Amino acid sequence: MTTKAVHVLNGPNLDLLGVREPEIYGTTTLADIEVMCRDAAKGPLVFRQTNHEGMLVDWMHEANAEGAKAVLINAGAYTHTSIALLDAIRAIRTPVIEVHLSDPSTRETFRHLSYVGMAAKKTVQGLGAKGYIVALDAAAQLENGE
Ligand code: DQA
Repeated sequence: MTTKAVHVLNGPNLDLLGVREPEIYGTTTLADIEVMCRDAAKGPLVFRQTNHEGMLVDWMHEANAEGAKAVLINAGAYTHTSIALLDAIRAIRTPVIEVHLSDPSTRETFRHLSYVGMAAKKTVQGLGAKGYIVALDAAAQLENGE
């Protein structure tokens, strides 16, 4: 039996991690986070970034069609605006975990609403890059039915 992958999807401006508002997001780059995730993952991992909302929707569908174990998504600012992402998460069978480096609930009020969080199984936020590893562990627990 083939092992199904965990898909880690990253949204807009996360390609600039390391130089983007380091006082909020830290100095770890997205490439560093990918290495951390690959080290921590117990099986195959798909790791992607896009600045385009529809691409994130397409990748959700793709993860579902491939029978992915789980999707971890940091949707960046689309978190707070995208009903399309909410609908995509509701439309697929794959469990989705929301992850954020910062804690949006302690920032500007426009960041307090999360469409992704309305449908995700779990949210990990405010832990910096380490949050991705915590989210991967949470995905492994979902697989075990916990
Ligand atoms: C973010 C939080 C969002 O509010 C913001 O738009 C981002 C990054 C985070 O990881 O903390 O782009 O998702």
